[in-house]
Amino acid sequence: MAEYDYDVLVIGAGPGGYVAAIRAAQLGLKTACAEARETLGGTCLNVGCIPSKALLHASELFEEASHGALAKFGVEIEGAKLNLDQMHAEKAKAVGELTGGIEYLFKKNKVTWLKGKAAFQDSSTVKVGDQTVTARDIVIATGSVVTPLPGVAIDQKVVVDSTGALALPKVPEHLVVIGGGVIGLELGSVWRRLGAKVTVVEYLDQILPGFDGEVRKESAKLFKKQGMELKTSTKVTGVTVEGDRATVSVEPAAGGAAETLSADAVLVAIGRKPNTDGLNLEAAGVKLNGRGQVEIDHDFATNVDGVWAIGDVAPGLMLAHKAEDEGVAVAENIAGQTGIVNHDVIPSVVYTMPEIAGVGLSEEAAKERGEVKVGKFPFAANSRAKTNRDTDGFVKVIADAKTDRVLGVWIISSLAGTMIAQAAQAMEFGATSEDIAYTCHAHPTHAEALKEAAMAVQGKPIHI
Ligand code: FAD
Ligand code: NAI
Repeated sequence: MAEYDYDVLVIGAGPGGYVAAIRAAQLGLKTACAEARETLGGTCLNVGCIPSKALLHASELFEEASHGALAKFGVEIEGAKLNLDQMHAEKAKAVGELTGGIEYLFKKNKVTWLKGKAAFQDSSTVKVGDQTVTARDIVIATGSVVTPLPGVAIDQKVVVDSTGALALPKVPEHLVVIGGGVIGLELGSVWRRLGAKVTVVEYLDQILPGFDGEVRKESAKLFKKQGMELKTSTKVTGVTVEGDRATVSVEPAAGGAAETLSADAVLVAIGRKPNTDGLNLEAAGVKLNGRGQVEIDHDFATNVDGVWAIGDVAPGLMLAHKAEDEGVAVAENIAGQTGIVNHDVIPSVVYTMPEIAGVGLSEEAAKERGEVKVGKFPFAANSRAKTNRDTDGFVKVIADAKTDRVLGVWIISSLAGTMIAQAAQAMEFGATSEDIAYTCHAHPTHAEALKEAAMAVQGKPIHI
């Protein structure tokens, strides 16, 4: 009889966990994946990346159709109407297809789905629902949950988190968003496009912490131009709900005169925290760091032999593609191969219109390390963007002044999320700005703006 029920047990079937399970099975390991939800795919597929992108896409179509933006192209639409129930239904369909797709992939790769919440009994024994299983290697991929704001109770009716904001049954009159980060700006954009007045309250003096300074400023300008109100350097001191209305009390972060905002919906989006709730990590002896993340080494190994951790529950950016890449790497490490993730080259994308994307260092962070050269190219000078009347934004390339190696690329553009992949690949290959500048780019494309920004690093762009 085998010593263990499974070679590998993955806890959590989000982008980290399901990918780790599939790769482990592909490598010939007998693999199970425990998932407490009714469907696979984790936060990302069920209540994160996928439903938010579904609403971003649909609300963009509504805005284009209903606000006369298409008329200048000769497309006249009269009486465009919002059918919010249909919008939610199409979102649910996309989510269902994708979560069902993971179930298919599990079957195809012979990964056993153990349904239920997992809790460690010891470092190789886990209780999942009412069954107990053993595994030689266990991967913790339990993801993250919403960070609560002390004193602000989420009722998922008037005061919602991202999950509630993805399912509002009607368009709010006034949505107050607490937190000018990725969720606040994406979901704030959705409801603004559908007709809500949106006020974003951000504690810091700029939205989008972690992004390049110039990109943060330009993004704020664009959101304001679209009609979003941004209250930066402002803190929320309380939210009271009466019936179907909320009163949000705010004051300057540095102290000063308080004011109140009346809203019929409040979205709390001040970050997410690692999820180790109910896992009983103590029984396995697994250590957390000061931020509640499972502590790991370069190979994703915890302090306990045979126990590993990846994705949002571990340190690093809380992004689906980071979790997925770590899923592949940890499975390869468990199988005795060498799984590596280059955490210096993980792209970030905000899927607003225009999209806001970056990879590598911001100009500020790069300058802290040494001398840099910066090249910028605006979409107002890119022929395709001009033709499409889509000129908001720019590309910025940051290179090491001595070696010319690209340290960071930042893009604001309708196609930034797709374009940033080229920058990430160039950086992964150790490209210089000259390498990008001398790579032939198809014309007319938005991608030519990246080539021109790289040419601008050398002071020789052609089209500006
Ligand atoms: P998760 O996806 O959180 O999955 C963890 C799974 O573990 C969950 O299904 C949970 O039920 C399960 N679980 C937890 N504890 C147990 C237990 N004890 N037993 C059994 N199962 C358990 N990232 C992007 O890259 N792009 C985006 O566009 C994007 N959009 C987002 C939009 C929103 C609104 C939100 C909230 C997040 C978004 N993210 C996005 C972030 C992304 O969802 C996460 O980074 C990603 O899901 C992390 O993957 P993970 O596998 O680590 O964890
Ligand atoms: P976030 O960390 O992106 O932004 C939170 C914002 O809230 C910050 O700007 C912060 O300064 C601010 N804040 C914190 N406390 C505050 C307070 N008391 N009052 C006012 N503002 C306050 O977190 P967010 O938006 O909740 O998203 C969580 C994570 O989910 C992201 O960091 C990202 O990793 C992931 N995500 C990724 C997406 C993508 O890749 N497109 C989309 C949505 C989420």
